[in-house]
Amino acid sequence: MPLKVLDGRCAIVTGASSGIGQAVAVALAQAGARVAVNHSSGGESAARAQKVVDDIARDGGTAMAVQADVSREDEVAQLYAQTEAAFGPLDILVNNAGIEQPSPIEQMTLDQWRRVIDVNLTGQFLCAREAARHFLAREAPEGERRARGTMIFMSSVHEVIPWAFQANYAASKGGINLLMRSLAQELAPRRIRVNSIAPGAIRTPINHEAWDTPEALADLLKLIPYGRIGEPDDIGRAAVWLASDDSDYVTGTTLFVDGGMTLYPEFRGAG
Ligand code: BGC
Repeated sequence: MPLKVLDGRCAIVTGASSGIGQAVAVALAQAGARVAVNHSSGGESAARAQKVVDDIARDGGTAMAVQADVSREDEVAQLYAQTEAAFGPLDILVNNAGIEQPSPIEQMTLDQWRRVIDVNLTGQFLCAREAARHFLAREAPEGERRARGTMIFMSSVHEVIPWAFQANYAASKGGINLLMRSLAQELAPRRIRVNSIAPGAIRTPINHEAWDTPEALADLLKLIPYGRIGEPDDIGRAAVWLASDDSDYVTGTTLFVDGGMTLYPEFRGAG
């Protein structure tokens, strides 16, 4: 059997019990990585994460579920400790966990603002810092076109497209852009690659209201020049490439996977 591109690598995917995180975990495992499927809490999210793990195992892959709230320093440290104890030194972080709490600005509570920034931005900082510590604790591979470790931040088209009623979310994603690029600049000399994926509208639970009726989907498609909604595995495939040595010369980049949503489609024939 030919070697898979991520054979022998160890990965953490945060927020992997559903949606994009789930698809990324499955895709990394199919590419040969051993994957920690992080979920935020017990109950339903734990059950969903376990199902992702079971599906991966049924497919011949290796994964385990690990609970941690990425906005909490102690829980993030635990996430890494448990992952490395089971799967060995970390090679790949996919900083994916994210939430939305929409509100008109005049009604947005400080709590809604803080929670979104805590999970989407501070959570990515905490997980990236921990990944950097773990990557730096080991030797850089010599003379190979291979990084010491790779990080992928899950951003959004809303790192560039302003989003009314989701100022907290858009601010978190705008923050991810410069967090990612600053870390890429800082860590490149130490052979750590740092990139983002900016998904457009992907068919997941977070945005079901935008696609689960024919009318909503028709409205959404007006924003997508390529004429279809994205599927979670569109992001999974992009993540495999960015995590693998195939993208060894790529760092500090945001890969938009959005069917052209950032191309200002409303300007076609207008303006
Ligand atoms: C959001 C989705 C939204 C998409 C495009 C994503 O970042 O999480 O709710 O559909 O951007 O607007």
